[in-house]
Amino acid sequence: MKIISTGSAEEKQKIPSDFFKGKDEEVTKNFIQIPETTINSGKKSRSTDTCGSVTLKSSDYPEISEITILPGINRNGCRENFSSITIRPGDTISVVGPTGSGKSALINDIEIFARKDTVTGRTILINGEDPPDEYIRDPAKKPVALITQNTKCLADLIVRDFLQMHLISRKISGESIIEDTISLANEFTGEKIIPDVKMTSLSGGQTRSLMVADAITISNAPIVLLDEVENAGIFKEKVIEALKQHQKALIFVTHDPLVSLLSDRRIVMKNGAVDKILTPGTEESDALREIIRMDGLLCRMREKIRAGELITSVVAI
Ligand SMILES: Nc1ncnc2c1ncn2[C@@H]1O[C@H](COP(=O)(O)OP(=O)(O)OP(=O)(O)O)[C@@H](O)[C@H]1O
Ligand SMILES: [Mg+2]
Repeated sequence: MKIISTGSAEEKQKIPSDFFKGKDEEVTKNFIQIPETTINSGKKSRSTDTCGSVTLKSSDYPEISEITILPGINRNGCRENFSSITIRPGDTISVVGPTGSGKSALINDIEIFARKDTVTGRTILINGEDPPDEYIRDPAKKPVALITQNTKCLADLIVRDFLQMHLISRKISGESIIEDTISLANEFTGEKIIPDVKMTSLSGGQTRSLMVADAITISNAPIVLLDEVENAGIFKEKVIEALKQHQKALIFVTHDPLVSLLSDRRIVMKNGAVDKILTPGTEESDALREIIRMDGLLCRMREKIRAGELITSVVAI
């Protein structure tokens, strides 16, 4: 058993224009489109869906058309100030707020489909109803993938066998799905994952990249939760874009201004409760454009520092 620490691979990625739908056209012009992955999934229920050349045969999720968060209480026992939050496939929602404000608690409530049985007292509904018990009890049917900075790998298997094991446990058959999963993961990480290396020898960034790819292909989870993966050695924008492309409902906790501004909605946490829900639309276009510029500069500096160069002039970068 080995606990894998956070990896360091990260480099500048271009943000696809899709991100800026509904946002200022101007901010899109410097960015390239990420090529379609070989994987198709997400929009339909699993029984009719495909992954590369594979038809998924696993016991299926009923189509999830929406997830609803019903209010609980803050740390002082006062009711949260919203009536409900509805999340649909393809939505991207960021969760922001100071340390200790309850961001992780909120996405943990979603992960376990809270029924007023957590410290926050929230309730999570699927398609307007209590989720079936099997979502909670049967890992193979769980429609939620949670990926955190501390994602650990306990399996003493090579990558290919680990994915094979997961395919078997999900009762999925198919030839290309393992390769598809690894090549998708390799879009998210600078250090390429080799199918024959042990899971325990992957870097933190490689592990998280593989988990995200697995969530898209093998788990095919319609709801993906990311808890502060921005500093986790992965190409964050590319991960978000891939999840969006595959029509996942994506909810991510983040302290990164660029990642927050790329989401459609922002849930602001305070004192263990949802304090505000912002839907900025085009209002933040100027800020987004400026953050993209600064992020580009930071990424180029980071690369030069990694390459052992001295940064003697910012203008020349
Ligand atoms: N509504 C609540 N009532 C009581 N306790 C709460 C509530 N919400 C969160 N907590 C508790 O507060 C602590 C901090 O919450 P949490 O870990 O979610 O913060 P966070 O915003 O994710 O912080 P960080 O940015 O440091 O990761 C946890 O122990 C959590 O269980
Ligand atoms: Mg947290």
